[in-house]
Amino acid sequence: MSTSKLTLSDPDSGRSVDLPVVRGTLGDPALDVAKINRDLGYFTFDPGFVSTCSTRSAITYIDGDKGVLLYRGYPIEQLAEQSNFLEIAYLLINGELPNPTQYHDFTEQVTHHTMIHESLKTFMNGFHYNAHPMAMMCGMVGSLAAFYHDSLDPDNPHHRMVTAIRLIAKMPTIAAACYKHMVGQPAVYPKNSLGYCSRFLDMMFSVPAEDYEVDPVAAKALDLLFILHADHEQNASTSTVRLVGSSGANPIACIAAGVAALWGPAHGGANEAVLEMLTEIGTKDQVGKAVARAKDKNDNFRLMGFGHRVYKNFDPRAKIISKMTHEVLNKLGIHDPLLEVAMALEEVALKDDYFVERKLYPNVDFYSGIIYKALNIPVEMFTVMFALGRTAGWIAHWLEQNAEGNVKIGRPRQIYTGSAHRDYVAMESR
Ligand code: SDX
Repeated sequence: MSTSKLTLSDPDSGRSVDLPVVRGTLGDPALDVAKINRDLGYFTFDPGFVSTCSTRSAITYIDGDKGVLLYRGYPIEQLAEQSNFLEIAYLLINGELPNPTQYHDFTEQVTHHTMIHESLKTFMNGFHYNAHPMAMMCGMVGSLAAFYHDSLDPDNPHHRMVTAIRLIAKMPTIAAACYKHMVGQPAVYPKNSLGYCSRFLDMMFSVPAEDYEVDPVAAKALDLLFILHADHEQNASTSTVRLVGSSGANPIACIAAGVAALWGPAHGGANEAVLEMLTEIGTKDQVGKAVARAKDKNDNFRLMGFGHRVYKNFDPRAKIISKMTHEVLNKLGIHDPLLEVAMALEEVALKDDYFVERKLYPNVDFYSGIIYKALNIPVEMFTVMFALGRTAGWIAHWLEQNAEGNVKIGRPRQIYTGSAHRDYVAMESR
């Protein structure tokens, strides 16, 4: 019989509180501390939410010690091998794998929502040519929230689903338009005759002056990367989407907030930072210096693409991407010296006590940039790629939170460290 509660007592006040144990299907149990302030007069304190569960969710499960990642119970290794991104998006959103009719209908719906309102070009043209694509994505997705007034009610199931479809369909169109703005080429309209990833690559790399044929190897590689980036439980950007959504905000604005949170180098921005780091290291013989810098507490240099809040073992996604990197570069006939630098860095770090003691392993961002580079995607666009895959997860979590109804607004407390009460001092007396 497992424990149903733990009792916490305060010897100073003599008060105690029973903390109910909350259990899920898998993973460690949690203590429900909702009443701890009312009954014991304490808050809990957990900066960065290292040991704090913010919600219940049935979408994704991670076992950080074992390096396990399940989307709706299915192991990421099986999904990477046998599924595709749109099927994964359906699975994350609906909780079950689609049957052939459901898959066809979902794909058709996404395909027929890929265009964006022509007015959005006005926003795009306002950006300077050297605007970072993630800044453009924040602005463009935020601007998308100004459309579709007829279907943005979070309490309306039909509105929720059509918004989900619109976002999954339109994010690639917006992302490709950001790239085209960056390189000074005209935006390319989506071709509904193409598959999801082929359509995106066509919008990225085709030009009006000549025909363009999408390389199926590139499309397949991108589809797999989108699968691997689709969801990851309560990471910073997904938690942001949930927190913004908890106020009842415009659902598209919630996704724009997720884009902003993903941009940071500690999160999705790491894939861009990894390529910059590998380029700065330059050659294998400089790897030792980089590892030494990463260990030096007086140097704020970190091995980007290494370490993870949850994984204290190999990130299963990194294992898949590492293997895929070799396959894709071989198929495309590309030799990238940065791959050798990355492999040398991984080999040295994984043998070093500093990394072993702290259980720092390569994460999803360590190798992904080498594949994006092989697909001719510029480094500034790497985090945009991450956002395209993660849109499925952001939407799934927003839907899950709103489907529950009676959403409680997220409002953490704090430990106040400022001045105690003091009276205003007139200017002449200061
Ligand atoms: C993603 O949450 C998710 O699921 C995220 C993600 C997703 O799919 O959504 O998986 C995607 O964001 C992956 C992570 C990408 N970020 C990076 O690769 C940036 C480099 N990594 C780190 O900054 C760091 O590892 C984090 C941010 C990922 C995790 O940081 P934590 O959990 O807050 O750990 P920490 O900073 O407290 O580090 C613990 C120790 C510290 O040393 P000590 O103080 O114990 O001596 O490990 C050290 C850190 O200095 N450390 C590193 C390191 N990462 C941690 N030292 C050198 N290089 C690193 N990369």
